[in-house]
Amino acid sequence: MSSPHNRPRTMGQQFGRRSWAEPWKIKMVEPIRMISAEERQKALEEAGYNTFLLHSDDVYIDLLTDSGTSAMSDRQWAGMMLGDEAYAGSRNFYHLESVIREYYGYRHVVPTHQGRGAEHLISRALIRPGHYVPGNMYFTTTRLHQELAGGTFVDVIVDEAHDPANLHPFKGNVDLAKLEALVKRVGPEQIPYVSLAGTVNMAGGQPVSMANVRELRGLCDRYGIRLYLDATRMVENAFFIQEREEGYDTASIAAILKEFCSYTDGAWMSAKKDNLVNIGGWLAVNDEDVFEQARNMVVVYEGLHTYGGMAGRDMEAVAIGIVESVQDDHVRSRVGQVRYLGDLLSEWEIPIVAPVGGHAIFLDAKRFYADMPQDHFPAQTLAAELYLDSGVRSMERGIASAGRDPETGRNRYPALELTRLTIPRRVYTQAHMDVIAESVKAVYDKRGQTRGLEMVYEPEYLRFFQARFARL
Ligand code: F0G
Repeated sequence: MSSPHNRPRTMGQQFGRRSWAEPWKIKMVEPIRMISAEERQKALEEAGYNTFLLHSDDVYIDLLTDSGTSAMSDRQWAGMMLGDEAYAGSRNFYHLESVIREYYGYRHVVPTHQGRGAEHLISRALIRPGHYVPGNMYFTTTRLHQELAGGTFVDVIVDEAHDPANLHPFKGNVDLAKLEALVKRVGPEQIPYVSLAGTVNMAGGQPVSMANVRELRGLCDRYGIRLYLDATRMVENAFFIQEREEGYDTASIAAILKEFCSYTDGAWMSAKKDNLVNIGGWLAVNDEDVFEQARNMVVVYEGLHTYGGMAGRDMEAVAIGIVESVQDDHVRSRVGQVRYLGDLLSEWEIPIVAPVGGHAIFLDAKRFYADMPQDHFPAQTLAAELYLDSGVRSMERGIASAGRDPETGRNRYPALELTRLTIPRRVYTQAHMDVIAESVKAVYDKRGQTRGLEMVYEPEYLRFFQARFARL
């Protein structure tokens, strides 16, 4: 197969082309290697056909997640040397707190070891048994913490989000009519908060518009309901607003981020994504009472309220990472790289979620393996095939991730059956993107001969992490 690398794909690109490039150069490298096809087969069988269970030494290009896999900058590494490892009152905490206040705009900060630590705190603080938590599509750990606190998650995302081919520019938007119908059905006092994510991971990294969050704020105010944000990839969401929403094309990413957050009462954050670090998270809130509860609970579950499970040096890296993450040229090249891979695949007519989102390409396994029943785990199968072909590691985001309904114990059948090629920030080059695209194409070309999988071991919580499968 001829490599698409440097091949002009359109006349526009051939003549007078202006490419984007990363706003950094490489100072240190980490060697990677591809093991043989026989070794890959053996490794995959030992991992029960679950890419979460592979050893990373057996992986060539690792697209499992963009979580904690970013390359830190020289500034961040220098910051690691400034760690103040005092148990209480570390100066790095105060630095982090001031940066979150400046860029996200919230009043109070509670550090946590990563995003789910913050999800745990906010869920425990606000949700009581019998509550309903509406949100713009579920995320695995977010929903689980809401359920463990006694809540029932209700999806109120726009219908377009469940259609992988729909080109709506803001497929992460909340459907306000769906939300209002829920409020009227169960009563506003049964809804502790609306759980808003920007971008929406499970929908394909799809953004929420500024107009939508503004209207949502209005609706929440009318009913006296709080609005909390999953800010994990909110910087990427800000990029799409800048690109697509009227009135924002000259606004900076930083200004858009801050305006968006200003419509919400607080946010939880997996700093392992947007914030460009390998570990960390935080909860930031405006409400005094929520802050007090969270600050008290954090000492039970995470650590003292000035470190919350992070080392001082980790908090310093997050603080520096936040400032780097909101630079326009950084976000543009980050989303641009994802889009480059998406363009290659689209050109070869490989079914992916469109429009391409901020952090990943989502292969549409339902269309990829059009004849495979969802019970045969098409997205899991596709992840396995990709690894066998080239050592590229991806992640299932379909029926295995969706888990079982806690009431009935039956499998959930999500409309989206996707395999995620998640791009780590500042880690891989354009040539890696070409290699990935060519491997997807090779797997696509032999899709007619591929058999699905059955689940042979299923853990109770978040089964996709540790489940085992066998070839049918
Ligand atoms: N919210 C969103 C939208 C996420 O994508 C994640 C993590 C979390 C919360 C939880 O944060 O991992 O720091 O505890 N997503 C990772 C992923 C695991 O691969 O998409 P965490």
